[in-house]
Amino acid sequence: MSSFSSLQQRIDSFLQQQLDLSHKDHSQLKEAMAYSLLSGGKRIRPLLVYATANSIELDFSVADNIAAAIEMIHAYSLIHDDLPAMDDDHLRRGKPTNHIKFDEATAILAGDALQALAFETLTRTPTVPHKALKMIQSLATASGVLGMAGGQSMDLISENQTLSLAQLESIHAAKTGALLSACVSLVLHCDESISQHDEQQFNLFAANFGIAFQIVDDILDVTQDSVTLGKPANSDTKNNKATYPSLLGLEAAKSKADQHINMAFKALNALAFDTTQLKALAAYVLKRDH
Ligand code: IPE
Ligand code: IPE
Ligand code: MG
Ligand code: MG
Ligand code: MG
Repeated sequence: MSSFSSLQQRIDSFLQQQLDLSHKDHSQLKEAMAYSLLSGGKRIRPLLVYATANSIELDFSVADNIAAAIEMIHAYSLIHDDLPAMDDDHLRRGKPTNHIKFDEATAILAGDALQALAFETLTRTPTVPHKALKMIQSLATASGVLGMAGGQSMDLISENQTLSLAQLESIHAAKTGALLSACVSLVLHCDESISQHDEQQFNLFAANFGIAFQIVDDILDVTQDSVTLGKPANSDTKNNKATYPSLLGLEAAKSKADQHINMAFKALNALAFDTTQLKALAAYVLKRDH
């Protein structure tokens, strides 16, 4: 990921700035929000926003707000995902999870407040109001009952159950794919000259990227150690989660991830834009070790 390090620094300082704009005090809640928002992470979602912006030549000053808003929703989703009522994990990005560092009530509220801050950040996007409104609608859909939150609910209901591949794919598409797709679609909302065909190809790329991303996350859960992951290995096994390796076996799960990344590449190849950075990110999804 070294080629992406300047963009990772860019998003880190932008996130800090957005947090400070809304919270001039030093409350415990702000500390808990900063703890999870500014604690590293691969920043895949911001990188996907910048790579899409690069492809359609959208100004990065517009991409900053989109990248930050989506990363805030992601940070909130991780705080809640780790709670005892959900995956009950104690380690995240190599540090104690938010509810272990602070307490459960503070962790719940830090997630709630990060979600609110995400939408506040989108309203500050330097663009015309009707584009901002479209982005706010899309991020709400991707985060809500049809997206991340709905997918997380299905994930929990499916513990101790054997699902069909189609059911598992729809959980992955919702809990993880929806936010990754939003990274692409929110950027496209800023350019009304994009044709319907091109928008479809970008969205097809993003949908396949998102499913592959969660399949690889499931694979890493059973193949890596906790130090490399920065989160507990075998968390899915502990919770008897429905995952690609548990349903198909490790090798078939790996080939499913390959297939989805191939479909992602194929979608990009149907576009006349420069998609070099998007391809680099898609390749990284398969070879990452955490
Ligand atoms: C972890 O996401 C949760 C999933 C949706 C799979 P990431 O692997 O992007 O986590 P960070 O942000 O790099 O820690
Ligand atoms: C979480 O999936 C997806 C989210 C929406 C946060 P996981 O539960 O597999 O994520 P990790 O492995 O804890 O990061
Ligand atoms: Mg989970
Ligand atoms: Mg988890
Ligand atoms: Mg996981």
